[in-house]
Amino acid sequence: MQPITAVRGFKDILPEETGKWQFVESKAHEVFTAFGFREIRIPILEKTDLFTRGIGESTDIVEKEMYTFLDRGEEYLTLRPEATASVIRAYLEHSLHAADPVAKLYTIGPMFRRERPQKGRFRQFHQIDVELLGLEDPRTDAEVMLMLVHFLKSVGLSEPSLEMNTLGCLSCRPAFREAIMNFLRGKEERLCGDCQRRIHTNPLRVFDCKNEGCAEIIREAPQLLQYICKDCHDHFEQVQSALNTFNLPFRINTRMVRGLDYYTKTAFEVTTEFLGAQNAIVGGGRYDGLIKELGGPDIPGIGFAVGFERLIAMLPADPASFRHDPQLFIAALGPEAQKYAFPLCNRLRMKGILTEMDYLGKSLKSQMKRADKLHCRYALILGDRELSTGKLELRDMGTGAQEPIQLDGIEETIIDYIKAR
Ligand code: HAM
Repeated sequence: MQPITAVRGFKDILPEETGKWQFVESKAHEVFTAFGFREIRIPILEKTDLFTRGIGESTDIVEKEMYTFLDRGEEYLTLRPEATASVIRAYLEHSLHAADPVAKLYTIGPMFRRERPQKGRFRQFHQIDVELLGLEDPRTDAEVMLMLVHFLKSVGLSEPSLEMNTLGCLSCRPAFREAIMNFLRGKEERLCGDCQRRIHTNPLRVFDCKNEGCAEIIREAPQLLQYICKDCHDHFEQVQSALNTFNLPFRINTRMVRGLDYYTKTAFEVTTEFLGAQNAIVGGGRYDGLIKELGGPDIPGIGFAVGFERLIAMLPADPASFRHDPQLFIAALGPEAQKYAFPLCNRLRMKGILTEMDYLGKSLKSQMKRADKLHCRYALILGDRELSTGKLELRDMGTGAQEPIQLDGIEETIIDYIKAR
């Protein structure tokens, strides 16, 4: 019988990799906490309407990528494709806004999109998602981007390249939409099937199309910057000047539209060439109409999500610093030594020393081989002779140097010795 494999696009994160994931998570907690954000944990499954209303019916995500099912004939549920709509649902459902409209929240977890899997693109992937609700001051846009870049640098990314655009607001975007529709009219035949439909449903999406023919046409299209209202224009200028306060380099990309419909004003991405076509490792922006759209008061918001897998793929290869290698291997030889080693090994673990031992009654040579394979830092050699004389050897597995230690008070001696190094 063939063993059962994982679902296509769903990936295991093996123990060799989880050290990196834990490192990134601990940096996220550290950096976001310093900027006043608090963690929120939200369910993976939501009512489908949350995403159709939140993300937009004519986006790729809602049109073709959601894992949706009818739950025992009762209601349509969806595995969340992103976290923003869920965070807002929780913010409204628990009336967090009533106590204080300003909420600075972050959440880390899996998202699901039924895309075509390829390098850097999965059907289950993870996001580090940050949302700042209740403030529309342009300084918050700059602050969120500053925190993002600081976080990326703190995990080891050398020069994250930040791109930014403004997507206007509900009052200036209709004129732009009209202009794009007019521009595309007469060019329908040169567009892909999806974009021919998008002209009528959501013409801005054509900017996001990966099809070469569509990309070529859209290069000549009018730009939103020419259509934005004074309020959006001033907001964008102030975001830029706030970013300059921190000497934070950014590039304005007037073609960036983002793949979700809820964005208003500032939109941003962090891109990298390493990942080829799937080059955004972070996407985010302001969404001043979304909370109202989801049934809440008219409260603004801004946020971003880091693609966890894409970030991990970018990190410098430094496996040793992400590993949790054992500090000590107890090579116990013979039944008496084994009897002594078992409680010692577990007492050391309870005191925080990563300790391993052998339960297979192997020879000294093969126990040392195992200590080597596990990348143990020290090995304690314990045989009947050592037990009777009370004198043991602690071997440095890297250099091979041995130090004598006394059996009497061995637990404390080992703890002091390892902690001192
Ligand atoms: P998004 O641009 O759809 O935005 O996704 C954010 C990031 O998630 C992407 O830049 C990418 O790194 C990662 N990502 C997306 N799809 C996949 C995939 N199939 N495989 C691997 N990684 C992927 C959002 O989701 C918004 N909710 C971000 C946001 C938060 N905007 C405001 N607040």
